Amino acid sequence: MKYIGAHMLEFPQHGDERGHLVIVEGQKDIPFDIKRIFYIYGSDETVVRGNHANRKSEFVLVNVSGKSKIRVFDGITEYIYELTQPHMGVYISKMVWKEMYDFSEDSVLLCLASEYYDGSEYIREYDEYLKIVEEKDK
Ligand code: TYD
Repeated sequence: MKYIGAHMLEFPQHGDERGHLVIVEGQKDIPFDIKRIFYIYGSDETVVRGNHANRKSEFVLVNVSGKSKIRVFDGITEYIYELTQPHMGVYISKMVWKEMYDFSEDSVLLCLASEYYDGSEYIREYDEYLKIVEEKDK
């Protein structure tokens, strides 16, 4: 048990009496240039999203509102991250299986991606994912 293709990030909060400000700059606060952002909202505690790994894309996920959980599996280690604050993020490397779930009603999950969208780099079959990571470790 070792390789962990994901980790928690904590961004500085620039707060004053007017409120909070969090800054995320590519290659500075996260380890890639941001080519794409998307966000997920309107999901609830019955929904599981994701269920895929990406051959090329890296991601940082931030619950800018509300909460969710992120389960990752990198081929060796499984881990569950809880996103509960807007200045917390989870970095997810390429070829890491991910599931997002347990969304609070007010959850807005911001996703920063290192690549433009390309459906063909998504691995959506878990068996296929397992085959690839098991092959790699041989
Ligand atoms: P999907 O990958 O199922 O979302 P999630 O990972 O959150 O469960 O994406 C839903 C649909 O949106 C799917 O048809 C692909 C499309 N899509 C894009 O066209 N561009 C994107 O950047 C993303 C993330 C999805």
